[in-house]
Amino acid sequence: MADDQIVLTGVKPTGSPHIGNLLSAIEPGIALAADDTRTSLFFIADYHALTTVRDPEILKHQTYAVAATWLAFGLDVERTMFYRQSDIPEVFELAWILSCYSPKGYMNKSHAYKARVQDNAAQGSDGDAGVNVGLFTYPILMAADILLFDAHTVPVGKDQVQHVEIARDIAQRLNHACGEEVLRLPKAEVSANTATVPGLDGRKMSKSYGNVVPLFETSKRLRKIILRIKTDSTPPEAPKDPESSLVYQIHETLLTADQKEALADRYRAGISWGEAKVALYEEIESRVAEPRERYDYWMSHTDELDQLLRKGAQRARPRAQAVLQRVRDALGITAAPVISS
Ligand code: TRP
Repeated sequence: MADDQIVLTGVKPTGSPHIGNLLSAIEPGIALAADDTRTSLFFIADYHALTTVRDPEILKHQTYAVAATWLAFGLDVERTMFYRQSDIPEVFELAWILSCYSPKGYMNKSHAYKARVQDNAAQGSDGDAGVNVGLFTYPILMAADILLFDAHTVPVGKDQVQHVEIARDIAQRLNHACGEEVLRLPKAEVSANTATVPGLDGRKMSKSYGNVVPLFETSKRLRKIILRIKTDSTPPEAPKDPESSLVYQIHETLLTADQKEALADRYRAGISWGEAKVALYEEIESRVAEPRERYDYWMSHTDELDQLLRKGAQRARPRAQAVLQRVRDALGITAAPVISS
């Protein structure tokens, strides 16, 4: 198996996980980790969050929350290496090295940075207002995460594809300068399930819009959140068009094709909005009830979470050390070997 099949992905710990994350990242990620034909690495990119998160308690909480969420939905930590970025110090040495192979003008084109500059310009402020250098070099740190493990494939959402391409590009530059293939060139893999989950206001479900259905509210709060979704004043027994109903649009993302058809029939036959919302609530509740218990367990046993993540890092680190040493050797850095016994 394996060595030509290294899959790696990371999650930045910002905000509490929601239904959109479950469908687009968590479930596909867990399925991937269960695939024995590939070696998989999953990590929590806590140092990426530092570009924006300023409160230590929040950073800590969100890092645990991501770990607890993945475990709650069944990530198999025997099959995958599950770790915290900050437990792999080799990442930061490689990030420096890569920054020396990243032309500044090229980094200016990174979309996250470019968008900030454009926003600033639109508001008449200086282009770099509110931009720290960490935000600017964010893609380089991400390149280090990927290249340090010789990853072939990086499953990501569409918004991260450019970052994986930047990683590939930097690797190519370094290889070219060295005249040999020091770093493996990674490829982004965009999940086939590209259906975006609509949020409570009909726009894409996103933390930044404040329109999310959180994964781990109490069932009572979850019910309230669902019942608050805006609907029109069509009378209860009147037939309803599923496709134009937000309640249906959210609901269908959770269903198989047959289930979708059955639900659409109920709408067309005339379902009250109250009933439609309760059906949605029940669907979500059935998916999250057990994970919620496991999540609560982990969040009240963060010392065990720490242990588990450190174990993951211990398994992953020798790979990182071998790659870093290969890079140092290629560049003429003759410090004591990074490979510890
Ligand atoms: N930037 C990614 C995000 O915001 C998180 C991330 C950091 C990542 N390093 C990575 C994803 C390496 C894949 C591979 O979602």
